[in-house]
Order: sequence, then C-alpha cells, then structure tokens
Amino acid sequence: MDAVIVILPGDGIGPEVAAAGRQVLESVAEQFGHCFTLTEHAIGGAAIDAFGDPLPSGTEAACRAADAVLLGAVGGPKWSDPNAKVRPEQGLLRLRAALGVFANLRPVKPHPQMIEAAPLKADRLVGVDLMFVRELTGGSYFGRKGRDDEGAFDECRYSQHEIERVTDVAARIARQRSGKITQVDKANVLETSRLWRGTVAQRVADRHADITVEHQLVDSMAMHLLTQPSRFDVILTENLFGDILTDEAAVLAGSIGLLPSASVGGERGGLYEPIHGSAPDIAGSGKANPYGTIASVAMLLRHGLGLSEEADAVEWAIDQCLSAGVGTPDVFGSKGVSTTQATAAVLAVLAGSARQRAAA
Ligand code: NAD
Ligand code: IPM
Ligand code: MN
Repeated sequence: MDAVIVILPGDGIGPEVAAAGRQVLESVAEQFGHCFTLTEHAIGGAAIDAFGDPLPSGTEAACRAADAVLLGAVGGPKWSDPNAKVRPEQGLLRLRAALGVFANLRPVKPHPQMIEAAPLKADRLVGVDLMFVRELTGGSYFGRKGRDDEGAFDECRYSQHEIERVTDVAARIARQRSGKITQVDKANVLETSRLWRGTVAQRVADRHADITVEHQLVDSMAMHLLTQPSRFDVILTENLFGDILTDEAAVLAGSIGLLPSASVGGERGGLYEPIHGSAPDIAGSGKANPYGTIASVAMLLRHGLGLSEEADAVEWAIDQCLSAGVGTPDVFGSKGVSTTQATAAVLAVLAGSARQRAAA
C-alpha cells in the first residue's frame, strides 16, 4: 500500500526513539512491499527554537494531510520556565485537538522476561493484560485556564457527547476482550466525575448491553493497580487520571520505555507515540529505550493503516528481543545495550522473519 507518514521527533530522547521508529517503518515497507512516504517536521521545544511556535502551521498541515503520525516526545528544562509564554507541551495538545484524536489507547501487558525484573512481586504480574482508554481532548487539559488576583485556575469540563464517544471506543475494545470495562473517576467529589459515571452507565445500557461496567474511584484504583492488576481489563478514564494511572502502570511492565500508545477517533489514521516523555536525564546518552516507540509503530500499522500482519511482525520482533535479554539499561541494568543496538536487534529479527516468510 501507499501511505504518507509524518514523523515528529521533538525534544530530548524524542529524536533518538523516533529514529528507531523510522528505521522499523522503512524495514516493514521494504519487507512487505509497501511504499511509505516518511517526512519529518518540527514540534515542541525544537519548533519553538526554530519557528517561535511549538506547533508551526507547516507541521500541523502535514499532520492533517498524513495517513498517520508518529511522535517521539516533547519538552525539557530549556523551555520549562513557569513564566514562559509558550511551552513545548502546548504543541502536542494542539496537535491532538487538531487531529480530533479523542481516544488514547495504552496497552500494558508485562512480557514474561520482565516479570522477574519488575519491582513488584512476580505472582502479582501473572495474567496482567490491561488496555487503558484515556479521554484525550477534554477535561482540565483543555478547559479555561489562567491567573487572577488571588491565584490560578484550570477549569475541568466535559460534555455528555465527549464521554459517550470515548465510551463507544472502550466498549468496542472490551467486546474483543473480556467484555468488561472499569470506569475510573472521582465521583465522590467531582461533578464532572458524576457526569462520567452516569453517562458511561447509560451509554453502555443503551448501546452496549453485552458489556459489563464497574465504577472505581481513582484513589483506590491507584492502589488496586499495583496490588491486584490482573483483576482489570479495559480501564476507561478522563484525561488527567489516565495520564497519571498509565505512568503508574508502567511499573507493571518493567519500564515506561516499553509502553506505546495510539490516539484515535479523528478523521485520519491517528497519532502514535510512546507514553514516556523526553527524559532529559538520559537524553544524548544512548540509553533511551526505543521499544515503546517501536511498539507504537506496530499500533500505527494496525490501527492507522490496517496492516495487522505487519503489526504482529513488529510486536513479535520486540518480544523476541526481550526474551533473548536484549534491551536498554532501564530493563536490563548493567547488561543493557544502547538505543541503536536494541533497534538493530529488532531490525535483525524482522529481517529474519521476512526471510522465513519468503521461504515458506
Ligand atoms: P519522562 O517520561 O520523560 O521521564 C521519567 C523517567 O523515565 C526518567 O527517569 C527517564 O529517564 C525515564 N524514561 C522515560 N522514557 C524512557 C525511555 N524511553 N528509556 C529509558 N528511560 C526512560 O518524564 P518527566 O521527566 O516527568 O518529563 C520530562 C519532559 O517530558 C517534560 O517536559 C514533560 O512535559 C515531557 N513529556 C512529554 C511527553 C510526550 O511528549 N508525549 C510525555 C510525558 C512527558
Ligand atoms: C503524555 C504526556 C502529555 C500529557 C504531556 C506532555 C502534555 O504526559 O502523553 O502522557 O499529559 O498528555
Ligand atoms: Mn503522561
């Protein structure tokens, strides 16, 4: 197939992991006979430096026209002055809104090799297979915000429609899994959470009667996620709670550097990014884990381009590398290899599996 894919490297380790993602896309194109047109554009701090804008109009236009977008990460200390007029993260938020990608899918499934390495007791990790569905274009991220004489405010607003459409996404995913959704909120305190709870329950009753919903308060969910993670399957939540809970869930997987995401729901193929940030503490050191970005490439192939065989091949290659103990120091400590070595290992497995397919 022919596809136009925009790559947005961004800041910190963003360019390092995006380069890994690019190589995997090139390898998939070659091995499966596709023509991917890959173009890179500035976003975040790099775009502030070059254009004075974290989402330059050229970048936005290219993303709107693309079949899918792959992003590294944005942000960093250089642009973190609390009084700065413009921030790298605004570029990413504006891009999510511009593309209309209101549903952020974040799968968390610890690889068997990671179970021993993870900080949690191994028996808690057996059978863990989660899919977070995080609402991505509403809530306090996008509400009115500002300062007044007394302080500052970030308004959190949700419309019924915003909740219904992301509930539909979660229900469709749940239908292909265990048929169960855990909806997470703070309904004992927040009005928006009470709207979430009622709207999700009603929508499921009206449109997805085969799906079971349970409701869970976010504070106790933060605990259950670590004490009994295998109890959950699809976890549906608003924007900010989803952001926080998925970084917490990274502990289950062994490292935040392993986790991918897909942001979907817009008119085109969507936005794909690892869940981690620009990791300024390791940027430039060759220690960045590229697997979360490469797994995001797999999600791009599956959800953005409908190429499931190719997506499976990429995910299988990551699995093989982890099983063989090949990965960066965040997962394998002193036995860890560099970003480029870990990427090369994935590419070698991919090429090997292509040879096997050709011989079969
Ligand atoms: P972070 O995710 O960048 O880093 C948290 C910790 O995890 C650090 O110790 C880091 O070294 C480690 N880590 C993250 N990714 C890793 C990888 N691929 N391999 C190995 N280790 C990895 O979070 P932070 O430090 O709180 O944020 C830094 C900057 O990133 C901030 O400016 C923040 O706004 C931004 N950020 C951007 C995105 C994004 O672009 N989607 C996501 C989260 C944070
Ligand atoms: C993420 C990040 C972003 C978010 C920031 C950088 C805007 O933390 O993708 O998880 O909070 O959504
Ligand atoms: Mn986050």
